[in-house]
Amino acid sequence: MHSILLKSGNSIPQIGLGTWQLSGEDCSNAVNSALVMGYDHIDTAVAYANHKDVARGIKDSGKKRNSFFLTTKIPLETSTYDEVLKSAKKSLDELRVDYVDLLLIHWPNKSVPFSETLEAFNELRNRGLTKDIGISNFNAEITAEAVELSQAPLVVNQVEFHPLLFQKDLYESCKKVGVEITAYSPLARGKIFENDILKDIAAKNNASIAQVSISWLMSKGIIVIPKASSLDHLKNNLAARNLELSTEDLQSIDSIEETYRMVDGSWKHYEF
Ligand SMILES: NC(=O)c1ccc[n+]([C@@H]2O[C@H](COP(=O)([O-])OP(=O)(O)OC[C@H]3O[C@@H](n4cnc5c(N)ncnc54)[C@H](OP(=O)(O)O)[C@@H]3O)[C@@H](O)[C@H]2O)c1
Repeated sequence: MHSILLKSGNSIPQIGLGTWQLSGEDCSNAVNSALVMGYDHIDTAVAYANHKDVARGIKDSGKKRNSFFLTTKIPLETSTYDEVLKSAKKSLDELRVDYVDLLLIHWPNKSVPFSETLEAFNELRNRGLTKDIGISNFNAEITAEAVELSQAPLVVNQVEFHPLLFQKDLYESCKKVGVEITAYSPLARGKIFENDILKDIAAKNNASIAQVSISWLMSKGIIVIPKASSLDHLKNNLAARNLELSTEDLQSIDSIEETYRMVDGSWKHYEF
């Protein structure tokens, strides 16, 4: 089974399709193709402005709502209690679903107390509009704070994570408080393809560099959401489930010294 058991008792499939920068037909085609070829996890966000296109892709695939895992995220600028409820309801309407599996706080907001935002997230969970709640782009310190403040478990922290950004301390501190890591930009948007250690490991295993990164992340019990639009990339990434790297290869990737962070926006309120 390629899924992770969450603290809530629900499970999350370990590979999902990321949809940032996918819109219109490209988005619905990618979502449709992914679901038909065997993906069972789609990641979107209000900020991606593609909920309606994701909905179209789901409809075209003919898949039943309970056959796949759906995540969306409420943006930083809608963090008050009322704003969160409004944004979540609009999201469900646009996605044409009765519930999502996971609703995330996309970015921590310093101007609204976490307790207020989390109260709204808990209310949405109590009403069955989301099965689980979680966070994204939270550092270790505020993850621990948010965990304490939330009635329901915060099951996931979605953060940038790939071989050029092995966030070991954050990973360990999240695991300690029962928060699973979802790795966004798991291919560093292509940057990992230039790394010689990864090139060698891919050649040795007759695999792509994308697969090496996904497999390395999965070996750590991390959830991985590569974005892909071409059929080749979609297939290639899903097939990473079958790649098992040796302990030696995994350790070489752990010890890559080159670091690279793709997402470091001026909009962020807290340091990573
Ligand atoms: N929570 C957050 O703040 C946050 C921030 C960033 C991203 N995310 C989520 O994480 C997802 C993934 O991250 P990302 O979109 O930043 O980047 P990514 O998944 O690291 O990289 C996507 C890029 O890699 C290419 N690609 C995919 N599979 C490939 C393969 N097998 N071989 C070669 N190239 C391949 C894609 O090309 P094609 O499209 O041409 O196939 C695309 O250009 C996002 O879509 C989003 O859902 C969340």
